[in-house]
Amino acid sequence: MSARPRIAAAGNRSKDSASMSGASPAGARPVTLSTLVERKALGEPIAMITAYDHPSARVAEEAGVDVVLVGDSAAMTVLGYPSTVPVSVEEMLMLTAAVRRGLETPLLVGDLPFGSYEVSDEQAVTTAQRFVKEAGCDAVKLERGGSSVQRAAAIVAAGIPVMAHVGLTPQTATALGGYRSQGRTAERALEVARDAIALQGAGCFAIVFEAIPSELTDLLVPRLEIPVIGIGAGPATDGQVLVLHDLLGIYDGHAARFVKRYADVRDQMVGGVRAFAEEVRTRRYPAPEHGYEMAPDERERLRELLDRTASA
Ligand code: KIV
Repeated sequence: MSARPRIAAAGNRSKDSASMSGASPAGARPVTLSTLVERKALGEPIAMITAYDHPSARVAEEAGVDVVLVGDSAAMTVLGYPSTVPVSVEEMLMLTAAVRRGLETPLLVGDLPFGSYEVSDEQAVTTAQRFVKEAGCDAVKLERGGSSVQRAAAIVAAGIPVMAHVGLTPQTATALGGYRSQGRTAERALEVARDAIALQGAGCFAIVFEAIPSELTDLLVPRLEIPVIGIGAGPATDGQVLVLHDLLGIYDGHAARFVKRYADVRDQMVGGVRAFAEEVRTRRYPAPEHGYEMAPDERERLRELLDRTASA
């Protein structure tokens, strides 16, 4: 627990990078790593969501969240894969670059996909650099402890801030026995704790706790210096994250117990598209106000021109 997180700035945003406190409404200064440290110290919860495209980035910006993660959950929420495992670096870069173009204030974190950082430090640094150079990320996230600790240290040493992720780590869910909560026995909880402490020691600036008992979070958060962002980890974290498509009710797949639905956007989308199809079929769309007009004399001239073309 001795090492402090490295405050490295990837510098992909045009605005002044000074720290700020309080929420991040439109016009606020960009959220930096220092902002998050400050938030933890002040006991002000950090709000983080995922986003996968330009419109959802604009929504995150306007809603004033602090951190936006282009999560590899994109594999399931927007790309239709059955898990997060198949998504490629190229797919993630395209989505992340679109989010970057829509964000000014929140810190942008790109999720390194499965298979893009585990093989070697060189592979990890090369992939992380692509997320910064090609997609404009402020930071990257990787999953697990174990060998990921060394990978995180290598990326941090290359000047790229790293967010860690322990507990339920979906990229390796099969090895964990499926999509189930982790750390429910003292021994397993100790493994999660050791991973978290090692990742902090590697220089990670923040860590996600996913699907672990609240009791473990309660014991661990005071032992960590870096901000802890929870998802299914109870209320004692320094912030919370949810997947955008879960919280807005867009994703129609399985929702974990920790998901709270704040809207039913999918129902609205289906309703809107159904109404469009119905109006097309009953010729109520388009109405005159949806069309363009030609001046009567131009229309007459065109008629003559067409008649001449036809008889030529
Ligand atoms: O991919 C993702 O959306 C995530 C969050 C659940 C933290 O990793």
